[in-house]
Amino acid sequence: MSGPGPAFPRLLLVGGGGGLVGRSILEEFGGTWQIRSLHRHPAAAESGLPNVEWVAGDAATVPDWQPLLHGVDLVLNLAWYRFGPDRRFAPLAAGLQRLIRASEAAGIRRFVHISVPDAPRSLETGLPYLVRKREVDHAIEASSLAYAIVRPTMLFAPRDKLLTVMLRTIARYHRFPMFGDGDYHLSPIAARDLARIVHREAELGGRRNVVAGGPERWRYRDLTDALFAALGREPRYVRLSPHGSIRLSRFLETIGSTLLYAYEVEWLLSDLLGPPPYEGLDPPLAPVRPFLESEAARWRRPSPARG
Ligand SMILES: NC(=O)c1ccc[n+]([C@@H]2O[C@H](COP(=O)([O-])OP(=O)(O)OC[C@H]3O[C@@H](n4cnc5c(N)ncnc54)[C@H](OP(=O)(O)O)[C@@H]3O)[C@@H](O)[C@H]2O)c1
Repeated sequence: MSGPGPAFPRLLLVGGGGGLVGRSILEEFGGTWQIRSLHRHPAAAESGLPNVEWVAGDAATVPDWQPLLHGVDLVLNLAWYRFGPDRRFAPLAAGLQRLIRASEAAGIRRFVHISVPDAPRSLETGLPYLVRKREVDHAIEASSLAYAIVRPTMLFAPRDKLLTVMLRTIARYHRFPMFGDGDYHLSPIAARDLARIVHREAELGGRRNVVAGGPERWRYRDLTDALFAALGREPRYVRLSPHGSIRLSRFLETIGSTLLYAYEVEWLLSDLLGPPPYEGLDPPLAPVRPFLESEAARWRRPSPARG
């Protein structure tokens, strides 16, 4: 089978097609773009795709971005870590800032970067995950690039790290921790919709910084009730104070669990993760409930045999 011809626009995908967002980006751009994909480990989703060229590399240590930018129309950065010490974030932020400067020098037409919504001040100023991420955001804003910084709230998709983990926990233990009063909000957005947003933002001009919420703003405890309902169970909560919730997640961190990090709980409790929906997509953003139903079907008890 021959590869796509030269008419295909070229995308440098930093972070690759193996992660949660990356897999949706491949679906969105895979058929009509030539993708040069830089990341560290082989990604099953990319293998065998004729229009994806994997460049094995770490964005923190790429010595020279220029050859990777040759012929590129759009740079899209997804690379980041969910958790870790500053010695991981600082080199990655520095590597991405070198990419920004190289993209300016190469005259890249559009630069799209995935970031995160606002977080509580204590996290914005004290958590390397966020402090370094904002360094990258600000470097893009200070550049001469035409850019879109897209800041989605919590994403959902098969194999995500939040809703599917929550469903699995409820299916296993039949109860779930409730952090504080559950009165804060979330507006989950499908990873597939984020990919459509990226596509749209790649085609728009100008310099844009957009926070992207999903179509519904849920009160957290209504969302967790919906998880129980999708599994056919009555809600049962282990109630924790906000302080107790953060202590529990810190404890989980210290024993090496990747289930939930303390900063994620603090962020959730701050009520900053329920931004309004992203406007401008047609068809509109996908609601979360059908996703919960289909994912929960994997965990639901089989109904007793009839007859
Ligand atoms: N998941 C969410 O709910 C959510 C919400 C808001 C924003 N975001 C943002 O969306 C972006 C993608 O998140 P995700 O959930 O898709 O993360 P993910 O599943 O962990 O994927 C991240 C990808 O980045 C690559 N990567 C990590 N460090 C790298 C490095 N130093 N050099 C090159 N590639 C590197 C990894 O591939 P290799 O291991 O092969 O290098 C991986 O495929 C991140 O910027 C994240 O902050 C995610």
